[in-house]
Amino acid sequence: MSNALLINLTYVAAAVLFIFGLKMLSSPATARNGNLVSACGMLLAIVVTLLDHSIVDFRWIALGLVIGGVIGAMAARLVAMTAMPEMVAIFNGFGGIASLFVGWAALHSGDVSTFTVVTIFLSILIGGLTFTGSLIAFGKLSETIPGRPYIFTGQRTFNSLLLTAIVVVGVMFCMDPANTNLLYVLIALSFLFGIMAVIPIGGADMPVVISLLNSYSGLAACAAGFAINNNILIVAGSLVGATGIILTNIMCKAMNRSLANVLFSGFGAVKTALAKVEGEVKPITPDDAYYILEAAGSVVVVPGYGMAVAQAQHVVKELQELLEHNGAEVSYAIHPVAGRMPGHMNVLLAEADVPYDLLIEMEDINPRMEMMDVAIVIGANDVVNPAAREMEDSPIYGMPIINVDYAKTVFVLKRSMAAGFAGVDNPLFFGENTRMLFGDAKESIGALVREFSS
Ligand code: TAP
Repeated sequence: MSNALLINLTYVAAAVLFIFGLKMLSSPATARNGNLVSACGMLLAIVVTLLDHSIVDFRWIALGLVIGGVIGAMAARLVAMTAMPEMVAIFNGFGGIASLFVGWAALHSGDVSTFTVVTIFLSILIGGLTFTGSLIAFGKLSETIPGRPYIFTGQRTFNSLLLTAIVVVGVMFCMDPANTNLLYVLIALSFLFGIMAVIPIGGADMPVVISLLNSYSGLAACAAGFAINNNILIVAGSLVGATGIILTNIMCKAMNRSLANVLFSGFGAVKTALAKVEGEVKPITPDDAYYILEAAGSVVVVPGYGMAVAQAQHVVKELQELLEHNGAEVSYAIHPVAGRMPGHMNVLLAEADVPYDLLIEMEDINPRMEMMDVAIVIGANDVVNPAAREMEDSPIYGMPIINVDYAKTVFVLKRSMAAGFAGVDNPLFFGENTRMLFGDAKESIGALVREFSS
């Protein structure tokens, strides 16, 4: 068998592993193995590329594998779960700059056809904007730079001019790829475009942007694959591009916003004056909450971003076991955009070994809500805000929510009356059947656990 045939057959096998790996990622029960399957596909693809004699030197590849492997393993161990979106942002950025370099290197591979020059242009443009866009996203998420949207007068005009310049320079570059000045200008413009695209977006909208940049990093890799005529890079790039855009779409739908609204509205930049929700707040102490929980036959836990901040998942699991021991049926209601990244709550609860079958999706739990004796809302706010269902002037109107207010009693665990990500008041806190258990979620749940244990 010729080398080329062997390489391409192995690439097909690697592509199959990528696709099965992705499929397995869609359920928490198979996600770990899915990750492993995809990683095996990637290793296979890298190793078999050694057979292609156009590689620089296998020692460089081995060195890259070792250095990349060590950095990846350290990052996976050291990065806190709440910092995961930042890490993904950085990884996307590196993917983008790698594609830019691959495109650049392809320029030096002798006589290049017009098609190849166009793909080189795309890999440099998309790779470059993904790189700087991701760095800005990383800065905003880690609060190294202010997270709020940055908007200035004339921004749209500036961006339109920038886009025009990119098109003009792109056409000139495709006609004269040997002109290095044009190449440098193109790289600079793509960097600038990435910055300009991300600065007007608000801090808490960054997860959507990161998902979109993830998709772009795939597109850049795909273009680079065409530039160097490498099939597995084309396949892997397309998979990342497609999954990224699907995820972006899912996130936008769950937030009831269009992608255009996320990208161009500067959400959170201007706080509109909204009708204040008012009423009587009924605080409760852990020992009074204990008496109600002790008598409950069915309890639903609704986690949100605050559970991640408090790192309360382990004590929540303890409370679940104590409630079950006491005869109650416990389930967890999972909203698709609870927290700050897709699957955020699933990951946290899996970390605390909460069985997957106790996790119930919003559509399935809502019809059962009226039968629940107690709903314990742990650091969730927007995803349980009845304003989304009832108040037409609310910015979150239309967003599907978990209807905790239909449960017989609702405990809301948070530190203050502060709003959540959307910045809107929550009428749930003033509900007839709502009791506010103020404090850090981990401490409040810990207090309940102590009540049960004594
Ligand atoms: P949020 O609406 O952001 O509310 C979180 C609440 O947690 C806050 O009101 C805060 O109140 C409380 N909290 C913070 N730290 C706490 C602690 N240590 N102990 C107890 N409570 C604490 O969260 P959510 O309900 O999960 O909604 C998520 C929001 O993020 C949605 O609006 C969604 O659209 C948006 N979003 C989500 C995603 C994804 S993919 N998940 C992506 C982009 C945007 P206190 O300060 O009073 O404690």
